[in-house]
Order: sequence, then structure tokens, then C-alpha cells
Amino acid sequence: MAANVPKVTISNGSQTMPLPVIGLGTATQPQVAETTKSAVLDAIGIGYRHFDTAFIYGSEQPLGEAIAEAIKTGLIKSRDELFITSKLWCTFASPELVLPAIKTSLKNLQLDYLDLFLVHWPLKISGEVKRLPIPKETIFPIDIKAVWEVMEECQNLGLTKAIGVSNFSTRRLDELLSFAKIPPSVNQVEMNPLWQQKDLREFCKAKGIHITAYSPLGSKGAKWGDSESLEYKVLEEIAKAKGKTAAQVSLRWVYEQGVSFVPKSFNKDRLKQNLDIFDWSLTEEELNKISKLPQRRGILPSTMMEPSDLVREIEAEI
Ligand code: A2P
Repeated sequence: MAANVPKVTISNGSQTMPLPVIGLGTATQPQVAETTKSAVLDAIGIGYRHFDTAFIYGSEQPLGEAIAEAIKTGLIKSRDELFITSKLWCTFASPELVLPAIKTSLKNLQLDYLDLFLVHWPLKISGEVKRLPIPKETIFPIDIKAVWEVMEECQNLGLTKAIGVSNFSTRRLDELLSFAKIPPSVNQVEMNPLWQQKDLREFCKAKGIHITAYSPLGSKGAKWGDSESLEYKVLEEIAKAKGKTAAQVSLRWVYEQGVSFVPKSFNKDRLKQNLDIFDWSLTEEELNKISKLPQRRGILPSTMMEPSDLVREIEAEI
């Protein structure tokens, strides 16, 4: 029996859309197409209906194959039952490259439309760089006004139902809101108990921008079960007292903040575990303990492990 996943409502500027709060993240290194495809099929089988991909992840094709197979085998009746997000990679962050980029993503996914298309980073990368780490000399400021106009065109043409951004700071969002005809529906950023994004969340709430949390488990920073650090001990103590796992406590905390979230797991047990967070809650005391956890500093996600001068360079842009 597929799990019942709560939905939040997002707006695309002219109409509202339901978004299942939990989605499956598909960023992983290395990307093995068969593994990704089979994890997506497992996920659909147990009730996931929201999938997060990006050109740069290399997961659009296996996700598309899984969707086609899920329809063919009757796991779902039609593509409309799913919410699919993809992202404009920084090498395509020029106005003339946005339409070809969304068309490439749609082709990779074997779809006619996306539910949500995000500007992946407020950065432009020149040339052929499509992999991390990004060479410093290839990073340029993005002409977000020109790029956003074509993002709006993507929505107006029906290539995507909604548009948004990812990794945008309040400063970048303010700039975007000053000229956007269609405001961003979503800002997807890293968010977890160790990076709670309090200021950004407050800003987005005031502006009607929904937040989706990526790396809600702290991604590569996560060392569930074997960490000596205080942060993880707090989560593990709460988990033990509730008969849950630290990962579930982390996801439940993210959920209680009113955001949606896209944990990556390609393991069937953990896929199920991550869905099993909707019929219990954290107490006031537990929420307080989590809100006092020491916070990461900076803007870059824990998944990007570049040398520190490059980190400063990227942070200056975003
Ligand atoms: P796996 O795919 O083997 O389950 P994030 O979504 O924050 O980026 O974290 C992803 C990482 O967390 C992956 O390494 C994933 O590994 C692992 N993970 C996902 N769900 C759980 C869970 N419930 N318990 C422990 N680790 C998890």
C-alpha cells in the first residue's frame, strides 16, 4: 500500500499547484543509470510522487526511463500523477541557451513538460565545464534579468508549469523580485538541522516563495550512527527516545518547518524509512534542542568540496 504523503501548495504566479512534501533526490556520484532507474521504480511503488533531478546530475535519463516504465507497467496511470523538477545548469545560464536547455532536459526525461524548472545557481560558467569542481576562471556573473525572461517564456510556452531558483541568497532574490513578471515559486537550498536557514526562510515566507530543502540529511556531512560529534548525538538521543532513527528526526524537523524536502536514498529500506515521518511529531523540548544546534557557516552546500579560494569566489557571486 503506497504511503499517503502530505502536500503543500505552491503558486506559479497565476495558479496554485500541489507539491508532495517529500521528493526523491537523485544527485549522486557516480551516477549509475540502472541503479537510479531501479531506485525510482522502488520509490514510485512505495508512494513517492515527487522527483528532483538536474542536467548536471546525469539522472534525467534514468528518471525518464523509470517514469516510462512505471506508466507502461501500470504502476501509475499517467505522468500527471508525478511532480518533476529539473534545473538549468550554469553553462546554459545565458538567455539564448535556456530554451535549448529545457528542451534537452525534457528529451532526456521523455516528457512534454516539467512541473518545476529552476535556475540551478546564480552563476554563469563558461565553456564546456559540466562537472565539479568548477575551475575558478570559468565563473562569471549571471545576467539574471535576461535569463529569467526566458525562464518566464518556458512557463508561458507550457514547457514547465512553474519556475524557480536554487541556491539564491536573500540579496539575489530581492534583485530577481525587482523585475520578475513571474516571481520564483520555489528557492531550493540546502537545509537540515545543522544548516537551518532561518533568515532565508523568513525572507521567503514574507515574499511567498516556497523553500525546498536539499540535503535534508546533511548529505556527505551526514555520519548517522557512527559520529562522536555533539550535533549528531543530540539527534540520536531524540531518535532513541522516540524509537526512530536520527535521519527520521532530521526529516521530521525539516517537515515541521513547513518546507518540502528531497532526501536522496537509493536503498529500499531507507526510502521507506524516510516516508515514515508523517504520523508522529517532535515535542517542544526536542524542537528547542534542535534549534540550538551549532550552525554551519557560509552559503555553499556541504557537497561542494572545492578549495577555499574558489568557495570565496562563488560566494561573492551568490
Ligand atoms: P543511501 O542512498 O545509501 O540511502 P541527503 O539527501 O541529505 O543528500 O543525504 C543523502 C545520503 O544520506 C545518502 O548517502 C543516502 O545513502 C543517505 N541516507 C538517505 N536516507 C537515509 C536514512 N534514512 N538513514 C541513513 N542514511 C540515509
